[in-house]
Amino acid sequence: MPADNELKISQTELSDIAALALQIGKEAGDLAANRPANLELKTKSSKTDLVTQMDTATERLIVERLRENRPHDGVIGEEGTATAPTGEHQITWVIDPIDGTTNYIYELPAWSVSIGVEVAGIPAVGVVVAPALGETFFGVRGEGAKLIAKGKSLSLKANTIDFLADALVVTGFSYLAADRGNQADAVFELLPMVRDIRRLGSAALDLSYVAAGRVDAFYEQGLNHWDYAAGALIAREAGARVESLRGGPLFKGTTIAAAEPLFSNLSTILAKTPIP
Ligand code: IPD
Ligand code: CA
Repeated sequence: MPADNELKISQTELSDIAALALQIGKEAGDLAANRPANLELKTKSSKTDLVTQMDTATERLIVERLRENRPHDGVIGEEGTATAPTGEHQITWVIDPIDGTTNYIYELPAWSVSIGVEVAGIPAVGVVVAPALGETFFGVRGEGAKLIAKGKSLSLKANTIDFLADALVVTGFSYLAADRGNQADAVFELLPMVRDIRRLGSAALDLSYVAAGRVDAFYEQGLNHWDYAAGALIAREAGARVESLRGGPLFKGTTIAAAEPLFSNLSTILAKTPIP
C-alpha cells in the first residue's frame, strides 16, 4: 500500500508528465520570448499588478497543449484558467505563463514560465523556464532537481548555511500597497542581520535559485499557488525546506525556503516581524 504522501501514479506516467512539462515549458518560453513591438498593458489586482497580451497568449498555448495531450487533467492558471481534474489520479497543472511580468515589460531578463504538476494535491513535477537567461530548472518528486542550460544538465543542491549573517536572502513584495508597509518593516528588521538582500522579481526563479545555491534563502508574503507550484518542488528536491512561516498552506501568509539550519534561524527572526 502506498503511504499517504506517495504519488499514486506509475513511474512511467510520472516520467511522461515530466517530459511533457519540459516540452510545453520550452514551447511556451519560445512564444513569450518573441515579444511583440507593442505590448498591451492592463492592470489586475492593483495599479502595480500588470498583465500583457503575451501572458494570456502563453497561458492559452499551455492550456491547448494540455487539452491535446492530457484532457482529463485539471489546470489552474494565473490568467484565469480553472478546470478541475476528471481523471482517476486527480492530476492538476498549476501554471504561471509569465512569472515576473514587470521584468518582462521592462526587458529585464529575470522572468520565467512556471509549470507545476500535482497528483491529488502532492507536488510531483516542477519546470521553470527562463528564456532570456537560457536556463531551465526542473524537478521530479523523489528524483532531485536539475538545471538544464547550454545543452548540459547539472544536479542542484541548496546551500547549507549555519548563520543568518552569512546568508544572501531573496524576497519579493506584494502588489497591494497595504501589505507593503509590513513587508518593508520585515526587511528593515532583517537587513542588518544578513549578508545582503535581493529582489529579483520572479518568485519561481527565486525558489529555483535557492535550489541552485545562487541565494541561500527566499521568503515572501502573499504568494499565489502558481507562483510557487513549480519552484517549491524544485527547491525541496535540492534539499531546501519550503514551508509557511506560521504553519498552514504556502499561499497563506509567508513562504520560506532554505536548507536547515538557515530555515529555522530565518523563521525565528521573521516570526517577530509584522508579516503574517
Ligand atoms: C510576481 C513575481 C514577483 C513576486 C510577486 C508575484 P507575476 O508574479 O513572482 O517576484 O514578488 O508576488 O506576483 O505577477 O509577475 O506573475
Ligand atoms: Ca504571472
